[in-house]
Amino acid sequence: MSSAYKITEHKYDAVVIGAGGAGLRATFGLAQKGLSTVCVTKVFPTRSHTVAAQGGISAALANMGEDHWSYHFYDTIKGSDWLGDQDAIEYMCREAIPAVIELEHYGVPFSRTVEGKIYQRPFGGMTTKYGEGPSAQRTCAAADRTGHAMLHTLYQQSLAHKANFMVEYFALDLVFDPDGTCRGVLTLDLATGELHLFRAHAVVLATGGYGRAYFSATSAHTCTGDGGGLVARAGLALQDMEFVQFHPTGIYGAGCLITEGVRGEGGILRNGNGERFMERYAPHYKDLASRDVVSRSMTIEIREGRGVGERKDHILLDLTHLGPEVIHEKLPGIAESARIFANVDVTKEPIPVIPTVHYNMGGIPTNYYGEVVQKVGDDPEKVVPGLYAIGEAACVSVHGANRLGSNSLLDLVVFGRAVANRCAEKIKPNQAHRTLRLGACDEAVARLDRLRNASGGTPTAVIRDRMQRTMQTDAAVFRTAESLQEGCAKMQEIFNSFEDVRVSDRSLIWNSDLVETYELHNLLLNAVATINSAEQRHESRGAHAREDFPKRDDETWMKHTLVKVDDAGKCSFDYRPVHMHTLTSDVDVVPPKPRVY
Ligand code: FUM
Repeated sequence: MSSAYKITEHKYDAVVIGAGGAGLRATFGLAQKGLSTVCVTKVFPTRSHTVAAQGGISAALANMGEDHWSYHFYDTIKGSDWLGDQDAIEYMCREAIPAVIELEHYGVPFSRTVEGKIYQRPFGGMTTKYGEGPSAQRTCAAADRTGHAMLHTLYQQSLAHKANFMVEYFALDLVFDPDGTCRGVLTLDLATGELHLFRAHAVVLATGGYGRAYFSATSAHTCTGDGGGLVARAGLALQDMEFVQFHPTGIYGAGCLITEGVRGEGGILRNGNGERFMERYAPHYKDLASRDVVSRSMTIEIREGRGVGERKDHILLDLTHLGPEVIHEKLPGIAESARIFANVDVTKEPIPVIPTVHYNMGGIPTNYYGEVVQKVGDDPEKVVPGLYAIGEAACVSVHGANRLGSNSLLDLVVFGRAVANRCAEKIKPNQAHRTLRLGACDEAVARLDRLRNASGGTPTAVIRDRMQRTMQTDAAVFRTAESLQEGCAKMQEIFNSFEDVRVSDRSLIWNSDLVETYELHNLLLNAVATINSAEQRHESRGAHAREDFPKRDDETWMKHTLVKVDDAGKCSFDYRPVHMHTLTSDVDVVPPKPRVY
């Protein structure tokens, strides 16, 4: 079989898969440490989804009012609804400050205060004085195009550090030794259809989230959970997949993101009666409560008949009172999106919005060095040698059951940097590669051949559409046993229908039909893991809101879900404890308490 497909082999110290914020920060960090590094990416680096991040990156710089990283630590734990690992959260919030200053020095064009400091805006769930003080101005912004500014700077730094890029290469499967050590990744050059095996001592998955498992998402169409798919196919567990974040303000009907920065700058959500309803749900922080709280409140308003429009099925985001100057200076990008996608002049009219899938808290389990971990025997976090994951693809877990806005760009750079440092500790530059087992790529190549020639009755797009609609309906903001059980059964059928997939294009040159079929398989693995994990968690925590189990149950459920998905789409579950310890004595463990904003 493999003889029909020639494989070109490359050897590096490290291969990074994905060129978003996390992938690029890791790539140039590895190169900077003297490790030979290649970044393999299915899209040109500056087209990665990080480019769409708007509102900013959190760090307690205190440029615009009182702040301290220990407040950020507290807010992140509370935001996570006590599912985040407190040692990893301490690491991220402390490292936030040097990480952002480093970005400034690398050239990120942050907006400025009159004194020339980095401009910072309020964001949901970011407070002062351990939730007792006013909102913190902690989110460092480059107008409302922060991800764009960061991604370009990180790519420039990667080029400056002479990192190698293989652009428009798609990762087919990971390659392991029989002892479980990850040795590399087999990829498809999209332009030529040639196969390239990248062998490395460190394989870093920085592939982003899987928002496109849903029908309406702020995520790019490229967000297909490729890293989770690679890991699940290798028989490894994913973690906390039930926690899917709905961003309160996706444009109604289009799904495009309208940044939380709008509410940070003073924008207000209003229902069909014109009422600022968040006052009822979060009396203290109102529109700046955390995302899960705001999305649920909006959904309740709509359900109870106080929505907007003919069908009363959305909400309005009003920023008309901010004035054209503030909008022009701080929110130019969303003004443009609202004009194009909602036909709204934001200086005069509110934007129609609806909670929209935005972020996956779950993913590939790692420790705070970015090493992939698995539960093996009594060891809940045994390191998988040679395999690393960072960014949205990973679950460190710093976001737990609900991520705070602007903690994602932070996660990318902090853990992108951490993984580069870890690899530099463990790998000597240019160290020899062990011989690969005979036929190490055979299974992956056989799969490629099978999918390329798949001649079933169901086109890829039809299966994808069924999956997206099922996930949208049955794994929504509010969940019940009924919707989840029905969703699990439907997703099993949809997973099975992949056996009948039809790929029409048999060529290997720019075969987007084939690539979308690979992406669909990755999405299916993530989607099945998500809906089954949601069904088995009998409590409400963060973004996982069960109407039949409305309370958080720390006694039984303050633990991470580990889920494996087998070849037939069947899930098996295990658990590992949440880290209720800190790294240093600079902060105390935050014990669980009711979460009110
Ligand atoms: O609303 C936003 O600007 C999104 C930020 C985030 O998800 O961190």
